[in-house]
Amino acid sequence: MRSLTFRRPDDWHVHFRDSVMMKTVVPYTARAFGRAIVMPNLTPPVTTAAMAQAYRARIMACVPDGVSFQPLMVCYLTDHTDPADLVAGFKAGIFTAAKLYPAHATTNSAHGVTSVDTIMPVLEAMAEHGIPLLTHGEVTRADVDIFDREARFAEEVLGPLLARLPGLRVVMEHITTQEGASLVRAHRDRMGATITPQHLLYNRNALFQGGLRPHMYCLPVLKRERHRQALRQAATGGESCFFLGTDTAPHMRHLKEADCGCAGVFSAPVAVAAYLQVFAEEGKLEAFEAFASLNGPAFYGLPANEERVTYEERPARIAQEIEVDGAGRLVSLFSGEAAPWSLAG
Ligand code: DOR
Ligand code: ZN
Repeated sequence: MRSLTFRRPDDWHVHFRDSVMMKTVVPYTARAFGRAIVMPNLTPPVTTAAMAQAYRARIMACVPDGVSFQPLMVCYLTDHTDPADLVAGFKAGIFTAAKLYPAHATTNSAHGVTSVDTIMPVLEAMAEHGIPLLTHGEVTRADVDIFDREARFAEEVLGPLLARLPGLRVVMEHITTQEGASLVRAHRDRMGATITPQHLLYNRNALFQGGLRPHMYCLPVLKRERHRQALRQAATGGESCFFLGTDTAPHMRHLKEADCGCAGVFSAPVAVAAYLQVFAEEGKLEAFEAFASLNGPAFYGLPANEERVTYEERPARIAQEIEVDGAGRLVSLFSGEAAPWSLAG
């Protein structure tokens, strides 16, 4: 049986939600990862340092006893973000970054930014103070095909923004295309990208495998096989600009299996195993630690975790569904199947 020992990884993109849902999902991430960048798309969104501080305390109350875990908080940018509050929150260690959701791009993005031009003073302050900008990189115009939205964002929004603000540091979150990976590489001195397990494991056929598969639906949507191959090369190739970010995004089963189902793959219970499967299939297990545990902290200017963990290539059965305290059930990635790797011990 193969095994791999590496520094405790971090997850640079998670959705914890709030209240009972958060109570159910935080332990999965906290047990597997040392730190996580926590997305701010709650209702209402986390738009101020005070809100982030309160949210961080609610998250910490859900971390199991004896588990060491640090949530890293993110400011949700709106057309009305106060640059002074963001900078003060960053300097106080409350905010690690700020997130650009183009308005109406995805879950709870109605308060998002209508145009990058609108928030130029905020972006200038971020460049000046070294606050990373995290992007949901999709244009939202109805005339742009959903499979082209990321490539168009890279070309029409992010490229020009990078040229306009040479000091701005940017993470293109959950990249799904060759075009996204290329833009990140071209600006690797100040750009990073997270890559999810589902975009490494599946192409868009998975959405329609024998019928409509709501649990495979996330945003940005799964793409063609050639893009999946480009992402596998990016993740496993040892380039420091690519790092682990699951985008674990729980929604109750009845809200995904619906007339208008929610976007998001809940991957936290199996995330490390899923990534390990990809690296094992590519014959690149030796590159795993850089992707999972080194490149992210280096981008954010944080030390890598010192603790080591060992995973074994030992299949573990994954529950069909997970109960959320009377409020509904969650279906995770690999639900009802076997996850190929497990934590040793
Ligand atoms: O699939 C997604 N789910 N993509 C996002 O951008 C947001 C996320 C969520 O919050 O559910
Ligand atoms: Zn996300």
